[in-house]
Amino acid sequence: MLKIGIDKIGFYAPHLYVDMTKLADSRNVDPDKFTIGIGQEKMAVPPVTQDAVTLAANAAVDILDDNDKEAIDFVIFGTETGVDSSKSAAVYVHELLGLNPYARAIEVKQACYGATAGIQMAKGHIAMNPDSKVLVLGSDIARYGLSTSGEATQGAGAVALLISAEPHIMALEDESVYFTTDVMDFWRPVYSDKAFADGKLSNEQYIAFFTRIWEQYKAKTGMELSDFVAICYHLPYTKMGYKALKNVLEEGTEDVQERLLANYKLSTDYNRNVGNIYTGSLYLSLLSLLEQTEELKPGARIGMFSYGSGAVGEFFTGILQPNFQDYLNIDRHHGLFASRSEVTVPEYEAIFEEALPTDGSTVELDIDNDPAKICLAGIADDKRQYVNKVSRVAY
Ligand code: COA
Repeated sequence: MLKIGIDKIGFYAPHLYVDMTKLADSRNVDPDKFTIGIGQEKMAVPPVTQDAVTLAANAAVDILDDNDKEAIDFVIFGTETGVDSSKSAAVYVHELLGLNPYARAIEVKQACYGATAGIQMAKGHIAMNPDSKVLVLGSDIARYGLSTSGEATQGAGAVALLISAEPHIMALEDESVYFTTDVMDFWRPVYSDKAFADGKLSNEQYIAFFTRIWEQYKAKTGMELSDFVAICYHLPYTKMGYKALKNVLEEGTEDVQERLLANYKLSTDYNRNVGNIYTGSLYLSLLSLLEQTEELKPGARIGMFSYGSGAVGEFFTGILQPNFQDYLNIDRHHGLFASRSEVTVPEYEAIFEEALPTDGSTVELDIDNDPAKICLAGIADDKRQYVNKVSRVAY
């Protein structure tokens, strides 16, 4: 049977971050609340030269070779912080990366669930077209506002997933359970650049969705906790997935519990240092696990829980492939973390408040201070001006 799944994974976060202990101090909050209670250490701060488009393009630019660029005939961009209500962010990325023009390019929205919908669509597309590859992007900037209760759960970044037949990293299994119900736990009206959240309700719904979907998954497949080497979660903050896991942990023996907890910890490390990246968050967690474990063996089954407020949830699974470690980009991603610069809380606040014009005026941005390969260089005639510094694509 044709295996379909994740062939490559790329990741990008902005080069600036704020330290959560210092943010707590300046908000008169006990730092333990942010670092232990919420479980975040560093929060990525996007400069004005990065948006959902550039973050995604930067996540993908280093993982694709010429064969991939020719074989990709579908770009699916999951985001809830897109830059245009009409044109999809996928079209910009398609151009910036120089992909085969005989391709589809679309944007998918359902809060943090969008990239998961993209992966499942990609899987169907490849089942019909086994020689195709699909580029699935999850890219967002999480903004709640300065001094709000959501502030500690902001972040920015993107994950790029190359989905193909006979994948090198993880084959996706067919059984999955998905669930939708209308709930106002988190939303962002079109007139607001900041999200609104009923924090307590969103926590409750996340756990309720996971528990309900997990029960249905077990009934449908006969699987149990012991069939999983790890479960990765959508991580708005790293304590969130732990709360859901804890709810079902007692179903496993002591060994199973220990294994799942140890792997959960590894799966939260990148997220703990980036913050919430909405659609890409679950896949950043998967990457964190894969790039930091030496224990996981080919054949291991990993569960993945995706949750997009509003709300849609899905639990699906994948099997690690032979030599999957050889297809990761561990050095590049560790280098990305190591090369970031800290900003002070006042600097972060100034960057947060820096807004692009909305009255049609022209703005030219200084992209020399942004080490990213792909940047937003300005706005002219109400059109965003993007630059790929490496291939010199500019428009
Ligand atoms: N030391 C250690 N832990 C502490 C602490 C301290 N000094 N002070 C508080 N805590 C713990 C609390 O006990 C709580 O843990 P628990 O949830 O396990 O009980 C945690 O820190 C958070 O405290 P809480 O008072 O609930 O925080 P809050 O009301 O400021 O808001 C969120 C937290 C997550 C609700 C808020 O950041 C938010 O709305 N985020 C955006 C929405 C979101 O991310 N939702 C997630 C589901 S999608």
